Amino acid sequence: MLSLDQHFRPLSRYFTGVADFFSLSLIEDAIELNAGAFHRHAVDVVRRYDKVPPVAVDKHKVLQILINLLQNAKQAVASTEIRRITISIEKLADTVRVSISDSGMGIRPENLNKVFTHGFTTRKDGHGFGLHSGANAAKEMGGQLTAHSDGEGKGATFILSVPLATQTAIAKTPTVRATQSVA
Ligand SMILES: Nc1ncnc2c1ncn2[C@@H]1O[C@H](COP(=O)(O)OP(=O)(O)OP(=O)(O)O)[C@@H](O)[C@H]1O
Ligand SMILES: [Mg+2]
Repeated sequence: MLSLDQHFRPLSRYFTGVADFFSLSLIEDAIELNAGAFHRHAVDVVRRYDKVPPVAVDKHKVLQILINLLQNAKQAVASTEIRRITISIEKLADTVRVSISDSGMGIRPENLNKVFTHGFTTRKDGHGFGLHSGANAAKEMGGQLTAHSDGEGKGATFILSVPLATQTAIAKTPTVRATQSVA
């Protein structure tokens, strides 16, 4: 039986950080890191998890992306009456998709394509780095990060898509076969 570390060693050229399977526990870790703030702000966290196959991802990148999305969502609902954040994970034909939707302040149409720009922030204490580096991290994994909002006061949804194809490509590399035959 291969340990997780042995399993991922041949994949190291695909990852700059710690490799792991994309799993619900990774999402739960990101939620847990924000749990205190969710509690303080009386945020209702709704989970809609589909069964998804294991997808190899860079754990640090996914955590970095999700933590910022959850923080942003928390900030967006802090000033609204209904404070709900819905986290969904689903499998599409060739991707796993994680969506973080909030019932918060929403995003004006003219700002929607600016939110990924380095330094764009509407928050007093914001830096405008989170989404920019999150979008880059998603690209480096072969995926993407997208934003949707019907406008001010209408909430927002951010979607992280990670390709299932990475898994297939990795499984076909000779290095992986060699390692498996040793085990
Ligand atoms: N869920 C959301 N609802 C409404 N606006 C959002 C949401 N998420 C992001 N934004 C907008 O996008 C901007 C950029 O977000 P980003 O995470 O990049 O930076 P930030 O949160 O302002 O600062 P930081 O660098 O500390 O993350 C925010 O300032 C806000 O205007
Ligand atoms: Mg942020």
